[in-house]
Amino acid sequence: MQEARGTLSRRVHGGIIATAMPILDERTLEFTSRGPDQTRRLGVRLGELLRGGECICLEGELGAGKTCLAQGIAAGWGVTGPVRSPTFTLIHEFRRLDSPHKFYHADLYRIANSSEAWALGLDDVWVSGGVCVIEWPEHATSILPPERLWIRLAVLDEMRRMLRFTAQGDRYQALLDDFRRAAFGG
Ligand SMILES: Nc1ncnc2c1ncn2[C@@H]1O[C@H](COP(=O)(O)OP(=O)(O)OP(=O)(O)O)[C@@H](O)[C@H]1O
Ligand SMILES: [Mg+2]
Repeated sequence: MQEARGTLSRRVHGGIIATAMPILDERTLEFTSRGPDQTRRLGVRLGELLRGGECICLEGELGAGKTCLAQGIAAGWGVTGPVRSPTFTLIHEFRRLDSPHKFYHADLYRIANSSEAWALGLDDVWVSGGVCVIEWPEHATSILPPERLWIRLAVLDEMRRMLRFTAQGDRYQALLDDFRRAAFGG
C-alpha cells in the first residue's frame, strides 16, 4: 500500500467527521469510517452528486459495509423507501418521481462469470442513463464500463471500515473532486 502523505481531521457540514484521510494521489481518496451511520452519510454525499449514467463499484468482503454505503448513495440520489440487499434477485431498480432515469442496485455475489452478468442485462444499464451501484463487481469485470468509480471497503475492526475511492476516467475524477469537497470541505 502506498504511504500516506498527509492526514486531515476536521468536522464539516452534515456532521461527517473524517478521522483520517490520507491523501494518496489525485485519483484516490481513503479514510476510515467509524460506524454504519458515518458510512451511510458518506454515501448520501456521493449520491447527491450523481447526474445519471454513473457506474459505482463496491468491492469488499462479506459484511464490509457495501450495502450500507449503497443505501446512502440511493438516499442521496433520491430513492425513497427501503433499499435492501438484492442478493436473491441480483438487481433491484428504483425510480425517482422527478427523474426519467432509474437507480440500479446489483449484487453479483452469486454470479459465477461475466456471461451470467450479460444475461442479467447489466450492460444495458449504463447506456440507459441510469445510475448503477454494484456489489461484488469483481465477479464480472469484463462487462463493466472501463470508466467507473471503484470503492474498496475493508473491515478494520467491529465498527471501523477503511474506504478507498479510486476514480477511473475523467468524469469520475471530477466526481471524486466534488465528493472530496462535499464530504470533507477541501
Ligand atoms: N463503519 C461501518 N460501516 C458500515 N457498516 C458497519 C460499520 N461498522 C459496523 N458495520 C456493520 O457491518 C455490517 C455491514 O453490512 P452490509 O450488509 O452493509 O455489508 P456488505 O458488504 O453489503 O456484505 P455482503 O457482502 O454480505 O453483501 C452491518 O451489520 C453494519 O452494522
Ligand atoms: Mg451487501
